[in-house]
Amino acid sequence: MTLTTAVTNQKGGVGKTATTKEVGGALAEAGRSVLLVDLDPEGHLTGATGLPKATGDANLCRALIGTWEGSLADLITPHSQTAAGGRLDVVVSSPEMLLVVRELDKVRSREIRLRRLLSAVDGIYDHVLIDCPPSLDVLTDNALAAADGALVPVQAEDSSIEALKLLLSQVSAVDEDLREKPLQLHGLVVNLLRRPPSILARSVLDIYQQYEDLPVLATVPLSVTVVEAWRYGRTVVDYAPDSELAGLYRELATVLEEAA
Ligand SMILES: Nc1ncnc2c1ncn2[C@@H]1O[C@H](COP(=O)(O)OP(=O)(O)O)[C@@H](O)[C@H]1O
Ligand SMILES: [Mg+2]
Repeated sequence: MTLTTAVTNQKGGVGKTATTKEVGGALAEAGRSVLLVDLDPEGHLTGATGLPKATGDANLCRALIGTWEGSLADLITPHSQTAAGGRLDVVVSSPEMLLVVRELDKVRSREIRLRRLLSAVDGIYDHVLIDCPPSLDVLTDNALAAADGALVPVQAEDSSIEALKLLLSQVSAVDEDLREKPLQLHGLVVNLLRRPPSILARSVLDIYQQYEDLPVLATVPLSVTVVEAWRYGRTVVDYAPDSELAGLYRELATVLEEAA
């Protein structure tokens, strides 16, 4: 069985891409086969994993809009393998992804294109993690329709609370229109937390703690380790295996392991 997880929040800069890469890295370290999908047209995940964007006809944009009908395997670039027998692969971005929302608007079944595409790797990977764009558009609908569950990166800021409400209503809408079973919301990942947290940040954390059915899974501090690993295209568990950050990402990986 493959567990597919959307890492989603329409707010930008809250740590979606870092969470996708690092939780994926921790799952691979634990011996799992993991596929990351760079669904944000900006292609930050592709950059963060140090991989080149796809330049030919075989690319995620064309696969989603149906103008290329090859095998999903042709869109996958291997990133790394781990001592425990895990692997990390990536469906990389392409420059054409910047046009994908416009093009998807012209096709039928536009919200379930990714689900169809990923059905080709069902049972092949243990985990698929989808790095979502910072928008509540048709791409995010595709991720929410394709996933079994979601991780929601947030920051301990007032504007993140408003964003979370909007996201939860989008999840309900997709549950109603596009899914058989409701999406499983694994919980929140509070990112980029300054230490010590300000009074304001602590008050926002208190509000997050009150969400029923949406546990705070981790609070990830602002750390140069994340930025360094990103710069070198490596995962934190590989780049700084003994760091606090690596430990946090391993704990988050355990949450997905238990949900699988
Ligand atoms: N825990 C962290 N500590 C320091 N920098 C981080 C951390 N998490 C993410 N970042 C950096 O913050 C920026 C925004 O994170 P990113 O994952 O790109 O957010 P999003 O995908 O939601 O836009 C990136 O430059 C990333 O490298
Ligand atoms: Mg991102």
